[in-house]
Amino acid sequence: MSAIYLDYNATTPLDPAVVDAMLPYLREHFGNPSSTHDYGKTAHAAVEQARTQVAALIGAQPDEIVFTSGGTEASNHAIKGTIFVQAQSLLGKWFGRLKGHIITSAIEHPATLQPCDFLRRLGCKITILPVDRFGLVDPESVRKALPATLVSIMHSNNEVGTLQPIREIARIAKEHGALVHTDVAQSLGKVAVNVNELGVDFLSIAGHKVYAPKGVGALYVRAGVKLEPLIHGAGHEGGRRAGTENLPYIVGLGKACDIARQALPQATERIRSLRDRLFQRLQASLGERIILNGHPERRLPNTLNVNFVGAVGVDLLQKVPQIAASTGSACHEGQVSQSPVLCAIGVPPEIGKGAVRLTVGRFTTEEEVDRAADVLLKAL
Ligand SMILES: Cc1ncc(COP(=O)(O)O)c(C=O)c1O
Repeated sequence: MSAIYLDYNATTPLDPAVVDAMLPYLREHFGNPSSTHDYGKTAHAAVEQARTQVAALIGAQPDEIVFTSGGTEASNHAIKGTIFVQAQSLLGKWFGRLKGHIITSAIEHPATLQPCDFLRRLGCKITILPVDRFGLVDPESVRKALPATLVSIMHSNNEVGTLQPIREIARIAKEHGALVHTDVAQSLGKVAVNVNELGVDFLSIAGHKVYAPKGVGALYVRAGVKLEPLIHGAGHEGGRRAGTENLPYIVGLGKACDIARQALPQATERIRSLRDRLFQRLQASLGERIILNGHPERRLPNTLNVNFVGAVGVDLLQKVPQIAASTGSACHEGQVSQSPVLCAIGVPPEIGKGAVRLTVGRFTTEEEVDRAADVLLKAL
């Protein structure tokens, strides 16, 4: 697999140090973290160390971290768990329709939009806020939509990279007594994230976006905030998520968070300079035939989503198998359809069909960026 990997927002490779940290828990340390003998104690200690490592990256307390199967489960848990807690207090109304109001945005990941839609079908009110042409949610639009049970706005968008004003949104939401959830799946390790600076109650983490394996993640739950489990069973994770812990993967996530914490803020600058180098090279040749999607500054430092005017993203990427990247459009039966995110930011379909997402990461080199630019320009 020698293609230049420019799809770090889709998934990241495992950091070799993460693999090294995991291996002993695949080979020797097989104990159940709930067992009281030494095998169990070793496993338990590893889970708790990982919890501390995840918490340290986001400025949380270790017992505010719940390990999950990934970012999707974390967001489902925050959203459904909040509404289900409320449902329990509606004694005698179990067979009635659910109450509650969730405010979210049009450019959320399906991991947020789909649980919201599920709750809407059960009776919840769901408000989906529009975004501007950069993909930004206006905090004043949140204010107008309040009161709510929960405000769920992603920290950064996976397609265009726009970073939301979460701190301001959370401040406004709190004034009206709403809980706040943010999905940091794409932000973690790329920019600094701190739960107290943001003022959020819940925060979703996806392991495979931060050089840990797929199938592991975490949910931050602010101390004292009630949340109904999604998965009921024994009392794992402080009674918040039942099921024997995925020991090696949790160890991997902890190590990945530890590496990310130590690598910031240099990592931010490194990926920003690679991303900007790629854009400058393309722009120097294409001029007005390349248009940036997302916010020019308030954006993930690794994310370059551009429309190649006159091209079709799917066709372009097919022409350049030397590059592994994503498009902003899908092709079904010869028809090109634009992603909901590009639609929400108002990219005209004739331009958006040329959208390509190029995302760099920890293992991207300058030489790869230069080669990718050359290959793309040649194909165009
Ligand atoms: C913003 C965002 N949230 C959530 C997820 C889902 O995470 P996972 O794949 O771990 O379930 C992704 C992954 O694509 C994502 O980009």
